[in-house]
Amino acid sequence: MNNEQLSAFKAWFDKFVAGFYSDDEYINANIKMKEEHTGRVCSEMLYLADQLHLVGNQRLLAETIALFHDVGRFPQFLKYQTYSDPKSINHCLLGLEVLQKENILVQLPDNERQIIETAIRYHGEKELPNNLTGDTLLLSQMIRDADKLDIFNVVIKAYIQRRDDPDNFKLEMEVLDEPRCTPEVLDAILTGGRIDYKALRTLNDMKLCVLGWVYDVNFVPTLRRLKQRRHLETIFEFLPDTPDIRKVREKIFAYVDSRIE
Ligand SMILES: [Fe+2]
Repeated sequence: MNNEQLSAFKAWFDKFVAGFYSDDEYINANIKMKEEHTGRVCSEMLYLADQLHLVGNQRLLAETIALFHDVGRFPQFLKYQTYSDPKSINHCLLGLEVLQKENILVQLPDNERQIIETAIRYHGEKELPNNLTGDTLLLSQMIRDADKLDIFNVVIKAYIQRRDDPDNFKLEMEVLDEPRCTPEVLDAILTGGRIDYKALRTLNDMKLCVLGWVYDVNFVPTLRRLKQRRHLETIFEFLPDTPDIRKVREKIFAYVDSRIE
């Protein structure tokens, strides 16, 4: 693919998203959140592309994947008013449907289109299938890291906004805001296992789940960026100070440091 194609993709994306704004403030706030998320994921992706020394075509594919990774989020929210896939629809598959229906990727060679589609298809899954290789694997791993980097930023901003100005908080909360953590979730994070998204019951579970993503990070530059931004510390500030949480904290920081060194 070439630069002109990337520019055309960006122009299409802007127009596509613009069509989801309406006079509904709640929908607009949530659409805007994902539109801005996409912009930042593109930057995170380019950061990783630099750090991992991607060249030419790989870079263009990386940016295209970041641009389109959440294209399914917009129709998802409009139709279901939620970003919870279990409560609505798989937004990765919905994204592929959008791209196919709009004939966006047809101008690319088959192999490039397949790389983009595979990376989008699996970016939100608990883990990648183990049969991916080459650039498909590399770019699929990169979008998962770039996406996570920005989700840390998004959730932290939401917690702060909600704490400081709860009356004007317009973003969707998918779970109950109760002080407890679900034992199954705590257990999974303490044993380094994967957290089943279906087990998440409370906002504190969600915070633990986000913290647990560090185990899924593919690249050291991602962890370096997380650390440099103090995102993990900030999320812990929003969790209760209990012996269990302190244990989680120790474990997570030790893990991140061991990978960075
Ligand atoms: Fe996504």
